Amino acid sequence: MIHERPRRMVPALIAAVLCTAAALTTAAAPSASAAQAAPAAPAQHSARHQIQPASQSYNGAALTPPMGWNDWYQYRCGITENDVLANARALVSSGLAKLGYRYVNLDDCWMAPQRAADGQLQADPTRFPHGIAWLAAKLHAMGLKLGVYESFGTTTCQRRPGSYGHYQQDANTFAKWKIDFLKFDYCGVPPGTTSASLQADYQQMSRDLLATGRHIVFSEELPVAAGDANPANPHYLPYVALSSKISNMWRMAPDEKPNFRSTVFGHLADDLPLAQYAHPGAWNDLDMLMAGSSTFHWSVQQQQTQMSIWAEMASPLLDSSDLTSMTTATKRILGNRAVIAVDQDPLGRQGQLVAKQGSVDVVAKPLADGDVAVLLANTGSAPQQVSTNARAIGLRRAGAYAVRDLWAGTRRETAGTIAETVPAGGAMLLRVSPLRAFAVGRYAPFTAVSVTVPPVYPGSQFTIAKPGQAVTVPAALQNDGRVPVWNARLSLTVPSGWSSGSPVSARILPTGKEVSGTWHVTVPPGTAAGTYTLTATAKYRWGYRHAGGNSTPATVQIAVPPVGTPTLDQLSWLSAVNGYGPIGINKNYYGGPLSIHGTVYPHGLWVNSVATLYYYVGGNCSTFTTDLGLDDSDKSTGAVVYQFYADGHQVYDSGVVTNSTPTVHAIVNISGARILELHVGEGNGTINYGNADFGSPRLTCTG
Ligand code: GAL
Repeated sequence: MIHERPRRMVPALIAAVLCTAAALTTAAAPSASAAQAAPAAPAQHSARHQIQPASQSYNGAALTPPMGWNDWYQYRCGITENDVLANARALVSSGLAKLGYRYVNLDDCWMAPQRAADGQLQADPTRFPHGIAWLAAKLHAMGLKLGVYESFGTTTCQRRPGSYGHYQQDANTFAKWKIDFLKFDYCGVPPGTTSASLQADYQQMSRDLLATGRHIVFSEELPVAAGDANPANPHYLPYVALSSKISNMWRMAPDEKPNFRSTVFGHLADDLPLAQYAHPGAWNDLDMLMAGSSTFHWSVQQQQTQMSIWAEMASPLLDSSDLTSMTTATKRILGNRAVIAVDQDPLGRQGQLVAKQGSVDVVAKPLADGDVAVLLANTGSAPQQVSTNARAIGLRRAGAYAVRDLWAGTRRETAGTIAETVPAGGAMLLRVSPLRAFAVGRYAPFTAVSVTVPPVYPGSQFTIAKPGQAVTVPAALQNDGRVPVWNARLSLTVPSGWSSGSPVSARILPTGKEVSGTWHVTVPPGTAAGTYTLTATAKYRWGYRHAGGNSTPATVQIAVPPVGTPTLDQLSWLSAVNGYGPIGINKNYYGGPLSIHGTVYPHGLWVNSVATLYYYVGGNCSTFTTDLGLDDSDKSTGAVVYQFYADGHQVYDSGVVTNSTPTVHAIVNISGARILELHVGEGNGTINYGNADFGSPRLTCTG
C-alpha cells in the first residue's frame, strides 16, 4: 500500500500532495485590496498607571479574550446536549464560571445533515432533541453563554451544511436563538473562490452578525485559508490584518495536534510576529486549551506551560476537555487567578519577544497598571538559565521591583536583574512591578543559583560521564535583591554514595554580588547508566530575622563506554533523528534483511536521509569500521553522503553514494573520542530514496 512506504521514497506521492496544497492556495490568491490592508498601529507602551487600551472592538464585544469551553477535541461529532449541559454545570460548580469561563461553545456537528425546507439551519434531532434556542435559554439561566459553529463555505469540515449563500439567514437564526458566539471556519471552499471573494465573504458575515443587533462574538479562521502561519506567505498577513478589523478573534495557526512541542511552542513562534494585530475586542486565537484533555495526554507541566503562553499572548482561553471529571490539577491550572488576570488584562496588549537566550524566549506583556508580565518559555530539551532585567522588559526606572512567580505563588524583590532556570520544554510566568522604597523590605530578595555540568566536549549538547569519572561542576549564588543577604552558604547535593565537596560561604552579599565555588564530583565506579540530578542549594539570611534560600538542579547522564568489538545494533544510541520512519535495527524499512549489492548483513542499521545518530564511546574505542551503501530494497535514484564526527570533529566523508557506487568499506580512527556522530545527508540535493545502510558497523574498544 502506497501510504505505508517511506514518504521520501515516493516522488509521485510528494507531487500529488504539492498539487493539493497548490490548489488550496490558488483559491486564495492575494488581491490588491488584501495587500493594502494595513496592520493596526501598535499601541504605545507607557509604564504609567492605568494605561488606556489603544483601540476598540469592531462590534463592542470581547473587550478581553473570551473564556470558556469548546467540545471539539473531547467529543468531536459525538457531542450531545446532555454532554454540553453536564460540562456547563461543571463550569459553574467548579467556580471556573465565576473566574470568567462563561462561553460554552458547540463546535462542528451540532446541526442536522440538512437545512429545513425554508433553508434554516436545524439542530441534529438525535443529539440535540430540544434544539439550540432551548439550550441557549438553559445556559443563560445558569449565567453562561452559548456559542455555535459554522463554516463560510458550502459545507463544514465534517460535511454538515455550510453557511455559504445563507449568511444573513444564519446570522438572523443565531440572533433569534440568542446565540452569543459564532466560530466561522474555513471549510467547504466553493468553486471559483478567490482571495478577494473569500475576504468579501468573511466581511459579509461580520456585517450580517452586526446587523442583527445582538452582541455575538465573531470568531473566524480566515488566516487559515493562507495555508500555513508563515508571514512570508503573501496571503497570510493581509488575512490577519483584515481579521483584526472585522472579527473578535481569528485562528492564526493550524489545528492543534497531540505533539506538545510542535503545537504549543510552534503556535507561540507563529503568534510572536502578530502582536500588533491584537487589541481589545480583537485577538489572535492560539486554539483551545488542553488542560485536563484525555485525548492529548499532556503532562501537568505541559498544560501549565500552554496556559502560561496563552495568557501572555492574550489568546482566548477555551478549554476542550471533559470538565465533568476535572482533576484538582486541571482546576488549579485553569483556575489560577493571577494567570487569568494576565490574559484578561484590560490594556489588551499581546506579549512581544524581547530576547532569545539559547532555547528560551523572553516575552514581555505590558499590563494596564504598569506591571509587566514576563514569559520565559524554554523550547529546548535541557533546563536553561536566563537573565533579563526590568529595563529590558519595558518597566520604568525604579529602585527595586517586585517579582511574582504566578505558578509558585512567591513574591521577591529585585534591584533589576531577573535570573531564572527554566525547566526543559516548560515555561515560567512572572509579574513584575516597580516597588516604592518603603515596600522593599516586605519581600525576600531575588537571588539566583546557577549550576553547570560541563558538556562532554565544548559545544556538545550532552552532559555525560562514565562510572568512576570526576566531573567539575561550577555553581554560584548571586544576590539580585536590593537588600543584602547575610551568612550565605552554597552547597552541592549529589546522589547518595557520590563524593562532592564542602559548601562555600560569604558573610554578606550586597546587590549584584555572588559567591561561587567549583565542586569535583566523583561518580562511583559501578554506577548504573541513567540520568542523575545534582542540586545547588543556597541558604542565607536577609532583613533582621528572615531565613531564605533557593536551589537549582542540573542533570548528568551516566553512560558505560562500550568494550570489545560490538556492532552498533548491540548498543543504544544517545539520540537519533531519522529522515523517515523508525531506524531499522538489523532490518530495512520494510522489515527485510539489510543488503547492499546483494550482500546481506545480519548486523547493522537502516536509516533514511537526513539522519543523525549519536553514540557514547567514552574515549574507549580506537576504530569504527562499517560497510556503506543504499539498501537493495528500494534505492532507485537515491543519493546520500555519510559523514562521521568524533567529539564534533569530522573524521570521515564518503562522498556521494548512489545505486552505482560499489559498497564502501570505511575504516575510521576515533581514538580518544567520547561521542561518535553518524550523519547521513543528501547526496544530490534531493531526499528521495535516501535509504542508507550501515552493514556490520563495528567498534574496536579496549577491555
Ligand atoms: C477545523 C477547525 C477545528 C474544528 C474542526 C471541526 O477546521 O480548525 O477547530 O472546528 O474544523 O470540523
